[in-house]
Amino acid sequence: MNEAYIVAAVRTPGGKKGGRLKHWHPADLGGFVIDALLERSGIDPAVIEDVVFGCVTQAGEQASNIGRQSVLASSLPHTIPGTTVDRACGSSQQALHFAAQAVKSGVMDVVLAGGVESMTRSPMGLAAHFPSEHGFGHYQGPRCQARYPGIKFSQFDGAARMIPMYELSKPEFDKFALESHRRAAYATTSGQFAKEIVAVPVRDPESGKESLHDRDEGIRYDASLEAIASVKPISAGGILSAAHASQLCDGAAALLIVNEAGLKKTGLTPLARVHHMSVLGGDPVVMLDVPIAATQAALRKARMSIEDIDLYEVNEAFAPIPLAWARKVGADLSKMNVNGGALALGHPLGASGCKLMTTLIHALQARNGRYGLQTMCEGGGMANVTIVERL
Ligand SMILES: CC(C)(COP(=O)(O)OP(=O)(O)OC[C@H]1O[C@@H](n2cnc3c(N)ncnc32)[C@H](O)[C@@H]1OP(=O)(O)O)[C@@H](O)C(=O)NCCC(=O)NCCS
Repeated sequence: MNEAYIVAAVRTPGGKKGGRLKHWHPADLGGFVIDALLERSGIDPAVIEDVVFGCVTQAGEQASNIGRQSVLASSLPHTIPGTTVDRACGSSQQALHFAAQAVKSGVMDVVLAGGVESMTRSPMGLAAHFPSEHGFGHYQGPRCQARYPGIKFSQFDGAARMIPMYELSKPEFDKFALESHRRAAYATTSGQFAKEIVAVPVRDPESGKESLHDRDEGIRYDASLEAIASVKPISAGGILSAAHASQLCDGAAALLIVNEAGLKKTGLTPLARVHHMSVLGGDPVVMLDVPIAATQAALRKARMSIEDIDLYEVNEAFAPIPLAWARKVGADLSKMNVNGGALALGHPLGASGCKLMTTLIHALQARNGRYGLQTMCEGGGMANVTIVERL
């Protein structure tokens, strides 16, 4: 079997919903990040055999195969195809897995994996709710309703269900949220993201003034425990607040994946090798705790223990998820999301899988770490796990 190497990894900074990236059509943002990857890697675009993109809300401006639309919005020749994956929040982590599987098998040698999401222009839930509100039915069919009677799948309910299950508390969430902002602020001001971020040109439509969007917009540089603790709960009687939830975000990320033949074709030096990849399903009602079982299974399969892993990226969809994960897996919080997570940086759904991997690889490089593990909770009750070895 071939190896799968990651030879280039870039991401845009996150934009807040309705923020600095709001004027970017998501297909153009996808095209932009593809071009940025081409520019950073300096490869001949013709060697790319496929583009696999993750995107969650595949409706409106993100409909009609945004992977292909992003290719057509980039400088790639139209002979290079594109496809779009939906693995909920793990969509572009799955795009990475599909790309790695293609090069490992030798079916392809060079594949671009990426993801894009504009939560401003294609709001979360648009694909599910808009059609059903206009008489076109709901995705949960009668057989699924019979299997889960009275259950409306919701990530907010799932996050709340995890609190008693894993004996978690609000003070822990507040502290965790503060740490996420602090780490993200430090990473930004100390230049930790410099190698992974591609600045996005933005134009103020009123003033016409042009500038570069070069920093994640959601970070609170003045975050405090008092301010976080005082944010009102999302739902009456609950303890989770907006400070404990991933921020709605616009963004894109892309990785170049090659095998040994692809290394020759591109002439590039690998940043990392994909050591392990897997995906697992679990309870779709609790939905968000599957990264725990998925990580335990992944470590068993890879014949590794959590102590073998130098850094982990566990998506901060809601604060209970990484906290429960760390407790159950026996992980060290100081090695998790070292540059902050989605509570501070935002979670541009379909882009997050490649975004986290981009950050993980660069953080491993900066710390001279060897193995990195990434896992994300996913709607429908699933989780992908990727273990990479930095080279
Ligand atoms: C939780 C959620 C609904 C909040 O959305 P929102 O109300 O637009 O969030 P905001 O950023 O405006 O925050 C709400 C308030 O909390 C305050 N706040 C949020 N985080 C804060 C922090 N860290 N410190 C201090 N105040 C904070 C905001 O300033 C705002 O205050 P205001 O009402 O006085 O303006 C939204 O972020 C969300 O849906 N997140 C989850 C996304 C998701 O499900 N992704 C998939 C994962 S499975």
